[in-house]
Amino acid sequence: MVRAAVLPAVGSPLEIADIALPEPGPGQVRVRLAAAGVCHSDLSLSNGTLRVPTPCVLGHEGAGTVVSVGEGVAPFAPGAEVILNWAPSCGSCDYCAMGEVWLCVDALTGAANVHAIGADGTELHPGLNVAAFAEETVVAANCLLPLPDGVPLTDAALLGCAVLTGYGAIHHSARVRDGESVVVFGVGGVGLATLQSARIAGAATIVAVDISPEKESLAREAGATEYVVASDSTAKEIRKLTGGRGADVAVECVGRATTIRTAWESTRRGGRTTVVGIGGRDQQVTFNALELFHWGRTLSGCVYGNTHPARDLPILADHVRAGRLDLSALVTDRIGLDGIPAAFDTMLAGKGGRALVVF
Ligand code: APR
Ligand code: ZN
Ligand code: ZN
Repeated sequence: MVRAAVLPAVGSPLEIADIALPEPGPGQVRVRLAAAGVCHSDLSLSNGTLRVPTPCVLGHEGAGTVVSVGEGVAPFAPGAEVILNWAPSCGSCDYCAMGEVWLCVDALTGAANVHAIGADGTELHPGLNVAAFAEETVVAANCLLPLPDGVPLTDAALLGCAVLTGYGAIHHSARVRDGESVVVFGVGGVGLATLQSARIAGAATIVAVDISPEKESLAREAGATEYVVASDSTAKEIRKLTGGRGADVAVECVGRATTIRTAWESTRRGGRTTVVGIGGRDQQVTFNALELFHWGRTLSGCVYGNTHPARDLPILADHVRAGRLDLSALVTDRIGLDGIPAAFDTMLAGKGGRALVVF
């Protein structure tokens, strides 16, 4: 038995409970978690904004050590340190063949599998594949990325979602170039990673926007050169901060219709907006046909930063080793499994950066 944070049903509070994991089967690996980040997507899964089969073990941003392996997982042996990838790719579908592995048709099919058995005999699903809110997990080998040298295992958990996503939004989706202006909406874990990535990309002006005035120092540490508390005049303020034109790039890390619309309005003519935030079906964004023509802007969705995790991880590790990417600066709380519900409340209150469960 291992301790885990279980979501019994959509809308129910998390339960910290013992679960029984099976021995790893062919192609599977058992991992002892060192750390797991609390991402807004876990909150969205627990309240039904996003859906996976329940009951399930949440947690999708983790790192740890291989405990035991099933057949046919050659590169991974007990003792290996790994980062969990919640969106594994099959390597053979049309999207994988095109190199767009983040769109793999199989990425989330694992959510329907039985992952573990609860203390009362209930079958539990693996949330977003990796069920990282647990002392140990059993995952398919294609959910593992080898920990690069020189990256501390605990902080490496953040690479698995927030950092790959934020980095990818800047480098793959928005393709920020040296000297451009970038505005980032939402200063949570993902927004902070996006700000640091904008700095790495050489953005000259980096504006952070959040409803909470308390996030200013976190945002500035992550690279923001300007801080705007969200209001009705946010787009106007951003235009003022970007030579009257608007930003070259906006990245939305909230997942709400109003912030998506404001992000788009904050860019210059021909500007690019990347939506990283994941909102619900009720978040309708409207545009009129004339303004789409007039502004000539681009609005893009973004899945897991449009990254190829195995290809991007070594690049991120270079940035960590060189001190350009500060993983621990994203973390504002180090907690135990039983601290996750409070971390959700902190998130809802618009406080803090990343809460990291440290095992
Ligand atoms: N305008 C600006 N900022 C806002 C607004 C708003 N209207 N509403 C909320 N925010 C801020 C919050 O104050 C918080 O700082 O957005 C931030 C969101 O941060 P977190 O809740 O920590 O979320 P995070 O884990 O960073 O994820 C961000 O990316 O992957 C998706 O599902 C995830 O949609 C979520 C987004
Ligand atoms: Zn996430
Ligand atoms: Zn595929």
